[in-house]
Amino acid sequence: MRVLVTGGAGYIGSTTAAVLRDQGHEVEIIDDLSTGHRRAVPDGTTFHEGSLHDRQLLDAVFARPFDAVVHFAAHSLVGESVDRPLKYWRNNVGGTLTLLERVAWGGAKRFVFSSTAAVYGEPDEVPITEEAALRPVNPYGKTKLAMESAMADAATATGFAAVALRYFNAAGAWKRRGEDHEPETHLIPRLLRSILLREETFAVFGDDYPTPDGTCIRDYIHVRDLAEAHALALAWASEPGFTALNLGTGTGHSVREIVATAAEVTGRDVDPPVQPRRPGDPARLVAANDRARELLGWQPERSDVGTLLADAWAWHRDHPRGYAD
Ligand SMILES: NC(=O)c1ccc[n+]([C@@H]2O[C@H](COP(=O)([O-])OP(=O)(O)OC[C@H]3O[C@@H](n4cnc5c(N)ncnc54)[C@H](O)[C@@H]3O)[C@@H](O)[C@H]2O)c1
Repeated sequence: MRVLVTGGAGYIGSTTAAVLRDQGHEVEIIDDLSTGHRRAVPDGTTFHEGSLHDRQLLDAVFARPFDAVVHFAAHSLVGESVDRPLKYWRNNVGGTLTLLERVAWGGAKRFVFSSTAAVYGEPDEVPITEEAALRPVNPYGKTKLAMESAMADAATATGFAAVALRYFNAAGAWKRRGEDHEPETHLIPRLLRSILLREETFAVFGDDYPTPDGTCIRDYIHVRDLAEAHALALAWASEPGFTALNLGTGTGHSVREIVATAAEVTGRDVDPPVQPRRPGDPARLVAANDRARELLGWQPERSDVGTLLADAWAWHRDHPRGYAD
């Protein structure tokens, strides 16, 4: 297939672009490098440096239609979205509308989108199914839900197949690509960087949650498994309409479990301080992933926490300053 990957210089987008290229797809990437890295762009792909807001650039890129678009490009820092909501509405929703117009005008028959567990907010029940209420609690999650709605309406009206993949916590690294965000807000890279650089920058936020060891439980999914799910979704998405699928392992791990596994994998003593809970952190967020398994035949293969942390550690050790190394 001829595939356009937006945000293909970012963490998950670049890994997915590399996997699609390795599977024989013809891949073009558009990325404004606002949070991505030129060095993450895989060889053997065509790179367009620019923004989704640049209509002329998009018209030129879509001059030859694609078989599929995989849409990662977005801002995704929850805290920043609370402080600067319009930045998120402008970039995430605005960029998606400009892109969807080109798809609706005949630019592609398949559209696969990076959604997030944040669309569920604080769920009533865990594991979380795709039928759970959609009640995002921050502007980031609200923009993702709005993007899903826009693509569902456009897909139904104009007859393309849209799949929203709701990731839980992406983690790990694959081959020469890993996580390099500034600021880094995700637990595993923050923990591993603090171990690597021997800096006391990592803390456990709250150890009095109603969980077995008192720390928050999350569902971590390896970036390679996420990339594979996108490849499968592209192959599966042929019927016009909209489908949402959770991507998680269905197994949760507490912060203390992650810290203990990191100590094993790195061979270092790790004893982070405990700080008070952060507002808005639910105790337990775990995916029900039956729908993705059934519809796509998807099977997470590298997401056990030992493999996931070993892969992430190998990347951070080789790139202590991220892509600058
Ligand atoms: N990392 C996670 O755990 C996670 C979880 C759920 C959902 N997601 C979603 O997955 C996607 C990828 O996440 P990531 O962690 O790889 O983020 P990332 O910041 O590494 O990648 C996003 C990429 O999009 C680019 N971009 C942003 N706005 C753009 C625009 N207007 N035009 C062109 N390019 C633009 C950035 O430069 C960057 O390369 C995001 O949409 C994010 O919301 C991520």
